[in-house]
Amino acid sequence: MLAASPIKPGLEGVIASETRLSHVDGLKGELIIAGFLLEDLAPYAEFEELVYLLWHDAVPTQAQLAELRANLRSRRTLPDATLALLRQAAEQKVAPIDALRMAADTLSLRSDGTHEGDALLLLAAFPTIVAAYWRLLNGQLPIAPRPDLDTAANYLYLLTGSVPTAQQVRGLSTYLNTVSDHGFNASTFTARVIISTQSDMISAVVGAVGALKGPAHGGAPGPALDTVFEIGSPENAERVLWDKLNRGERLMGFGHRVYKVRDPRADVLKAEAERMMLGGEKEDLFRLAQQVEQVALRVLEEHKPGRHLQTNVEYFTALVLHGLDIPIPLFTPTFAIGRLAGWTAHSFEQIGLNRIIRPSSAYSGAHGRQWRADQTT
Ligand code: ACO
Repeated sequence: MLAASPIKPGLEGVIASETRLSHVDGLKGELIIAGFLLEDLAPYAEFEELVYLLWHDAVPTQAQLAELRANLRSRRTLPDATLALLRQAAEQKVAPIDALRMAADTLSLRSDGTHEGDALLLLAAFPTIVAAYWRLLNGQLPIAPRPDLDTAANYLYLLTGSVPTAQQVRGLSTYLNTVSDHGFNASTFTARVIISTQSDMISAVVGAVGALKGPAHGGAPGPALDTVFEIGSPENAERVLWDKLNRGERLMGFGHRVYKVRDPRADVLKAEAERMMLGGEKEDLFRLAQQVEQVALRVLEEHKPGRHLQTNVEYFTALVLHGLDIPIPLFTPTFAIGRLAGWTAHSFEQIGLNRIIRPSSAYSGAHGRQWRADQTT
């Protein structure tokens, strides 16, 4: 009998380390963030409270929260070099997620050389970068951050120039909290690998943004919403979805490496989208998306029987962010703003372990080849 291969493609099921930050139970469909069930935390906490919770494993006191807010508010303006780079990127119509990655690198210009300082700087500057870039891309001047607004409100203000309503701020805060952390997902693992070499927080986060960008990870919500728009009307759903599957495409916003039942983040964001869109001008879109979801789940079960492909976080992300009038090209950069809480917290945790992440590989190449001086013909 052949011995079972020790290789786990995609590291599936491999437990690489302990973490106190979050727990993903793919069979129960449960996500715990620092001890709280996602649904008990995300719709109620402010984003800054969640950041504090992840960084310190404790709910902040009023004084601790005020200190974190002040630290973030004082670091929001961008270095001139960052703005210059964003201007050049806008001229070349670089994708917003790539502009964010490039601009994040320039924050090293403001680094105080500590991991804590870099983490604050990244959290403070990411919303400014994304919003400034979007305005530049659309021929508008960036707006100065408002020192009286916190992360969610300030981001929406920087995008539009208008102070958002309390309901909009709640909607974005719920979204940012929902995506703040999720075990050893690909981008978080990337950050942990980089920081494990005793590199710095900014390098770790730049790498994580690169990993987040792909459609298998954080790049799905834009295409998910595009699909709903393309379907346009419920009677088209089955045909459009089967056409995609028959062309070998994946349905964006469905399936997950870990969740084999419903992704609990989808439920939290669906409730938020419903609160935002029902009774408003986007109600029809919400209802269409619900119908498309039902058809997609049925079609996927026929396409891959028994694989339990369920709605993932990205499907309702698309609706929540669209409900907030955030443009589709900013969906993944907005995801990055929320996930930054987790990337930085995981980096702190990894630094504490002081052990380089360095797995082994199984060699499958040739043996015994001999190099000759005239080898290349
Ligand atoms: N549409 C069509 N088929 C799918 C889909 C999908 N959305 N998801 C998985 N499948 C297929 C796979 O091709 C695979 O088929 P095969 O075994 O015949 O090759 C089978 O279903 C099982 O796939 P899994 O092993 O469960 O999926 P995997 O862990 O490889 O990938 C992933 C997970 C990348 C999320 C995948 O489901 C996917 O590409 N989904 C669409 C993109 C998406 O929504 N990404 C966001 C994920 S959430 C996040 O990262 C924040």
